Amino acid sequence: VKLASNESPWPPLPSIAAAMTAAARDANRYPDHLATELRVRLADRFGVDPAEVAVGAGAVGLLFQLGTAFLDPGDEVVFGWPSFEAYPIVARLAGATAVPVPLRRQTIDGAAIAAAVTERTRLVLLASPNNPTGTALRRVELEHILAAVPDTCLVVADEAYREFVTGADVATGLADRGPNLVVLRTFSKAYGLAGARVGYAIAAPDVVRALDKVLVPFAVNAMAQVGATTALGVDEWDLLEPRIEATVAERARVASRLRTTGWSVPDPQANFVWLPTGAAAVPLAHAMEARGVVTRPFEDVGVRVTIGQPAENDAFLAAFEAAAKEVDAELAWALPIGDQARHAHAWLQQIDAAEARLGALLDAQPTGLTEPDPGGTEQWEAGQVWAHIGEFGHYWLRELRLVLDGPADPTPFGRTKTNPHRIAAIESGRHTEAAQHFDSLRRAFDGLRALLAEMTAEDWARVGRHEKLGDMNVERILQEFLVGHAVEHADQLTALAHG
Ligand SMILES: Cc1ncc(COP(=O)(O)O)c(C=O)c1O
Repeated sequence: VKLASNESPWPPLPSIAAAMTAAARDANRYPDHLATELRVRLADRFGVDPAEVAVGAGAVGLLFQLGTAFLDPGDEVVFGWPSFEAYPIVARLAGATAVPVPLRRQTIDGAAIAAAVTERTRLVLLASPNNPTGTALRRVELEHILAAVPDTCLVVADEAYREFVTGADVATGLADRGPNLVVLRTFSKAYGLAGARVGYAIAAPDVVRALDKVLVPFAVNAMAQVGATTALGVDEWDLLEPRIEATVAERARVASRLRTTGWSVPDPQANFVWLPTGAAAVPLAHAMEARGVVTRPFEDVGVRVTIGQPAENDAFLAAFEAAAKEVDAELAWALPIGDQARHAHAWLQQIDAAEARLGALLDAQPTGLTEPDPGGTEQWEAGQVWAHIGEFGHYWLRELRLVLDGPADPTPFGRTKTNPHRIAAIESGRHTEAAQHFDSLRRAFDGLRALLAEMTAEDWARVGRHEKLGDMNVERILQEFLVGHAVEHADQLTALAHG
């Protein structure tokens, strides 16, 4: 069972394979060097100008083109680490200096990346979702980075796994396009064409021109061009999408199984899961290989496991359970294990449930005013409840982060009901559509889920100091201000809907 290279477990769609076979009959001819038709189809798909699309031999081909076109000796290349193994090689080949920036909680740390940028930085390489940890870059983190880089630096959003992303608050370079932002994508993963070697970049026309100057002649061969162009067809997408959905569902099943059996894993947003094993990485991978399951160990860091078909994933889970005992995998696991892992997972499920309940209330017809809150006087109409729902998630997520990261333990945090920003947000948002507020909460809860999945045992032990409620541990903060809080307001809306 080969789960080592983040490939699709399905062979190419028959229509794609047939188009490539047909193209092979003309393989005595050189292909179109620039793959013009493919660029036009990609431009169409993304609503950009064909002059803003470059193609190359895989996303990795385009990464090397970026290095060749934009790096000189002495330049700096900044990237999170661990990340895609090609990044330091791109820097080294150009005589540039690689500047790896450690991940924070298994995720690219936008503030640290921004701080690592100097006037010599020419490329910032951001894999999102990140290979090998599978975690995705949140919007605020990308905004941090874009605000920090000088005009002379390109920011590359390497979105090789973008099609598998389900998180509501995940950044995409396509939404933040600017003169120095490059989005990299590929046909290797979701489209199942890793062996064909086609990737593409969406970037400003002058960046595309620079990339084209260093494109190896005929780098994207005729069969690959035809295969990728065919893959962009509407009918093909209708067949590929269920495969992506199946991978995402299996990813959730595998992560949930690992967590409920006592092994926390970070929030997986790509077609693989990450086992943060620390020193046990290589022995664990060997022990799984001895049981017929090939995974990818990163020495002393962790093991990356591609999501395959259900039977392959079951084979992995069985191999892992046996191998983990054999090599004492729990000794250096970087995230909570055992009961603490199960407990963290229970919180994730409670967040899902609270979100689903509020989502179901979007179609309700609430009328009247809420009961005064216990010990308080506030009575709200539904619009005010939704306005509050739209703002409290982001606020308390930020405060929770403050408690986790604060220098003091307990860290002072939070606000009370009389906070003027809180009151103003509830007033100004009361006539906005509920769906918009719900979407805002969904993004906050998405960030919260990722944060909880990536919190260490030390993080869980932090304490905050609230001016009215006193010292509160993380669980109490979650209950009082985030998850339980959402449920309380769902109760209020339910009451209003029943008159
Ligand atoms: C983050 C990232 N970028 C790029 C690639 C390379 O993709 P391609 O097959 O298009 O070269 C990979 C492949 O593993 C990857 O993980």
